Amino acid sequence: MRVLVLGGGGREHALAWKLVQSPMVSQVLVSPGNGGTAADERLTNVPEMALPDLVQWAKHQRIGLTVVGPEAWLARGVVDAFRAEGLAIVGPTQRAAQLETSKSYAKAFMQRHGIPTAAYQTFTERQAARDYIHAQGAPIVVKADGLAAGKGVVVAASVDEALQAVDAMLPELNPNQGARVVIEACLQGEEASFMVLCDGETVLPLATSQDHKRLSDGDQGPNTGGMGAYSPAPVVTPELHARIMREVIKPAVQGMAKDGEPYTGFLYAGVMIDAQQTVHTLEFNCRLGDPETQPILMRLRSDLAAVLLAAAKGCLGDAELDWDTRCALGVVLAAAGYPQAARVGDVITGLPGPQDDLEVFHAGTVRGEGGVLQSAGGRVLCATALGANAADARRRALEAMQGITLEGGQYRRDIGWRAAGGKR
Ligand code: AMP
Ligand code: GLY
Repeated sequence: MRVLVLGGGGREHALAWKLVQSPMVSQVLVSPGNGGTAADERLTNVPEMALPDLVQWAKHQRIGLTVVGPEAWLARGVVDAFRAEGLAIVGPTQRAAQLETSKSYAKAFMQRHGIPTAAYQTFTERQAARDYIHAQGAPIVVKADGLAAGKGVVVAASVDEALQAVDAMLPELNPNQGARVVIEACLQGEEASFMVLCDGETVLPLATSQDHKRLSDGDQGPNTGGMGAYSPAPVVTPELHARIMREVIKPAVQGMAKDGEPYTGFLYAGVMIDAQQTVHTLEFNCRLGDPETQPILMRLRSDLAAVLLAAAKGCLGDAELDWDTRCALGVVLAAAGYPQAARVGDVITGLPGPQDDLEVFHAGTVRGEGGVLQSAGGRVLCATALGANAADARRRALEAMQGITLEGGQYRRDIGWRAAGGKR
């Protein structure tokens, strides 16, 4: 079977790396891919195409299964277009993907189906939003409605910061141009990423994970797309796992079916767990997390292609996933200037040679002239290692990182600190 992976980040490199190990798979094509997928002779990069061209190309190439990485493709309706041509694809429809692409849709959905989430209100007018912030006080969270690649959320510590966020997200005049913000209560606790695979009915949970969204050690600095992740997340005890399935995932999947839009593909619930073990849903994503996917797939022992094909065909049935019991941990190397204005075009050297239980997944990299590896995006690489525990996996990932040179490169040294017993 020929498999197509859409996207070019670290998540897609990890997906392609895992899929190509399946005995069912003859070739994995990645569009557009990156410098890492280009260097792997088992993978083939394909230039990015407009949706109608992509559908024709996939038919012509006899692609047996397509796996969608980023939400942008889902928002464009790639799943609807592939299905209309009888092509097997893993992902939600354009309408179902609103769970991620519209914060106000997601919040109304959660309220309608009794899924625990922070109290909120939606605004299109600046003055009404400002009044609400004054009435509520800080801390408070301001979210832009619509896809913002992780940049549309401001966790404001002060009223002033919240007001500034509103001013930046809502135009002063012409409030009816479609801009909207969700303003919600600020939740406290520990976050976890809870991902499942759905075939419209059956839900198959993946291993748990935790992401580190802040740029710098000690969870300081601006929010990013994720500077590192590890799996499993010990905060998700078996009891909490059952609770998240019961209170968040099952109502979401059943709710989508009730709303006439059965959910297919990966569903990612970002949850906040407080000291009383109460779970609140921060967000839904309609895709796998990046960088969570990198450590999660390092632990997956099952044949990913077989499971994804079953999901695409609506017959997950009683599929189970087999996980390495060890911990996997990924440390992201980001470019100078990330997350505000990432510098691109810097040369990357010193990548480690093949080693057991260590993979350096590429994200924003390209092969320049003469095959020289260069940075091409904010998050550049994710060094991911398996270890006996989080501290051990982190030590191995950091060892790999120390050998890599990228001018101005930034990475955290404390990924997984909670699982490593608080050691940074
Ligand atoms: P989102 O894209 O909605 O998940 O928001 C991105 C990040 O902002 C989350 O991972 C949290 O760290 C933080 N965040 C979002 N909503 C809240 C909230 N209601 N309370 C506290 N932190 C939040
Ligand atoms: N790492 C967070 C996300 O993929 O949304």
